[in-house]
Parts: sequence; C-alpha cells; structure tokens
Amino acid sequence: MAYIELKGLKKKFGEKEVIRGLDLEIEKGEFVSLLGPSGCGKTTILRMVAGFVDPTEGEIIIGGNTVYSSEKNIYVKTGKRNLGMVFQSYAVWPHMNVFDNVAYPLKIQKLPKEEQKRKTMEILKQVGLEGREKDFPWSLSGGQQQRVALARGLVMEPAVLLLDEPLSNLDVQLRQKMKEELMEIQQRTKVTVLYVTHDQGEALQMSDKIVVLNKGNAEQIGTPEEIYHHPKTIFTADFVGKMNFLKNGNKTFGIRPEYISIGKEKKDRAYGISGRLERYIFEGNRNSYLFSTEEGELTVETPIPVSLLKGEQAYLNWDQQVEFER
Ligand SMILES: Nc1ncnc2c1ncn2[C@@H]1O[C@H](COP(=O)(O)OP(=O)(O)OP(=O)(O)O)[C@@H](O)[C@H]1O
Ligand SMILES: [Mg+2]
Repeated sequence: MAYIELKGLKKKFGEKEVIRGLDLEIEKGEFVSLLGPSGCGKTTILRMVAGFVDPTEGEIIIGGNTVYSSEKNIYVKTGKRNLGMVFQSYAVWPHMNVFDNVAYPLKIQKLPKEEQKRKTMEILKQVGLEGREKDFPWSLSGGQQQRVALARGLVMEPAVLLLDEPLSNLDVQLRQKMKEELMEIQQRTKVTVLYVTHDQGEALQMSDKIVVLNKGNAEQIGTPEEIYHHPKTIFTADFVGKMNFLKNGNKTFGIRPEYISIGKEKKDRAYGISGRLERYIFEGNRNSYLFSTEEGELTVETPIPVSLLKGEQAYLNWDQQVEFER
C-alpha cells in the first residue's frame, strides 16, 4: 500500500469542477511533483491534502489513515495529518526572528521550551542557517528566507512535506542552488514530498515521479524520463521540454530538437527529411536552428555549431520519435 493515496478526488467551486477525479499513489520517501499551467488545480490538490479545502468527492489516505472520505464522512484536521507546509506567499513572518519563525509550530504544539530549542537548532543546522537565529527576515537573502520557511515546514519532523512553488521568487542561480539543497535535505530527512510547480525544469530535476495536470485532470503520471521521452499526449509533450510536431495523415509525431542531427545527405538512420535553414539562434550552451520542411517547421538543437548559411539546404536525421493518437 502506498504511503499517500488520493482516490477519485474531485473538487467543485460552485458549478466549476476544478479537479476531475484524481487518482494518485505516493510511496514513502518519494518526491512527487504536480506540474501544470496556471489554474490547472495544483494548489487546490495540495490544499485538499493539507486539509484546508474539502474535496467534493473522493478519499485521501496518509500513512494508512483515512484523513478524508466523502463516502465514510471522515475528516481529520490539518494539525492531525502530520504534515509540514511551505507556501509561496507569506513564507516567513517579518516581525519574528529566524528562531521564532522556525520554532512557531513547536510552540503551537506546546512542546517544552528545551525541546523547542533543541529541535529548532537541529533543523537550522540542517538547512545551513546555524548562527542566524537572532536575525530578522529583512536581513536575509531571498534564498535564506526560503530556507527559514523550509526549516519551519520540517521542524515538526513531519512524515509529509507539502511545497507550493517554494522557489518561484528566487533568481535563476539561487533557484538552482536551492533545488540541490532541497534534494539533499529530502534525502537526509527521508521526508515524503508533494511539490507544486509550473516549472518543468524543477519537476524534471527533482522528482521521482511527476503528475502532469491539465484542467484538473492528470494527463500522465510517470518518472521524469518517461514524461520527457515517452509523453503520452500532445499536451504533455508540449508542456514538458521543447517538441517539434509533424503530421502524417491522421498521426501526429513528436521529435525533440536534440534528437535531430544536421547533415549534408540522407544518413542510414530511421527517419529523415530535407530542410532549408530559416533561422539560427546562439543560446550559449547550445545552438538552435529553425528549418522549413515539406511537412512543417523543425527546430534542431546542437551543442556544437554546424557550418550552414541561411537559405541553404540540409538533411535532417533522427532515430527516435514519439507517436500520438490524439
Ligand atoms: N476558493 C476558490 N473559489 C473559487 N474558485 C477557486 C478557488 N480556489 C481556486 N479556484 C479556481 O480553481 C482553479 C484552480 O486553481 P488553483 O489555485 O488550484 O490553480 P494552480 O494550478 O495552483 O494555478 P497557479 O499556477 O496559478 O497557482 C482556478 O480556475 C481557480 O480560479
Ligand atoms: Mg497555485
């Protein structure tokens, strides 16, 4: 039995159904991301797991305990679900120093003062904020503030950590660093993570499993590799990474730009088509070429530039492609 189970979860706000029957299983210690565009229902799912939003239908089981069931009329309060949470906004309280911010959940639980101190200092060490306990949030960098929020989510040693876009306020470099730190902290604490993001890079890099959401439906659930290389639907293929789409009769094909090699002639490879170079873009670590072909436009990405001028013909070869039914 999985550690967290969501069964036939539905949520309506008024007449509008925003979650349309979600089934999801999360194993203990897994890092699972809910990935999808704005408004697809990510936060709503997280809030249902947390107990802030009541599902309209379905069941939520955490660690073998049913914490919500519409049928059996079960509702377990947030405080009794053994969860830690980090939300995007209001991440830290500006009027409290680092220690008080992090110790807050322990204070609410009325743990003895000594115990509060021991646990708070321990988790501050884990997130690399040792010695900063007296500092106020305004004297911390964005990344440090995010770590305070993370420490507060972890201080109760929850079995499950819910994270709602915790890195979205950070700049690119800091975000990369925090991603790595988050993964390290998760491995150290072995906490089960349900992570909300609209950033496919974050989901691909950090997750054991990704749930791609589209308008309240799970389009696909799989490992990052499965989602990237074997997307089942055009939506998933388009949302995660870059994808060329070519049509052949009723079948649509998808080809990742890096699957394609540029040559002077047809190679002995599975697929190929000739094209005319329309545009070249230098992107630092890679080169992006836009070709026009008989079957549509194709973008090709290569780490090493090829010598080809705009308007010249070339042959484009690739070995693998994705076929879509719809
Ligand atoms: N309290 C509410 N009352 C009415 N509608 C709501 C409420 N909360 C969310 N919604 C609607 O439910 C849908 C899903 O919202 P949700 O916040 O879960 O999306 P999201 O995937 O987290 O989006 P974002 O990436 O923008 O945060 C949206 O259409 C939103 O307008
Ligand atoms: Mg949201």
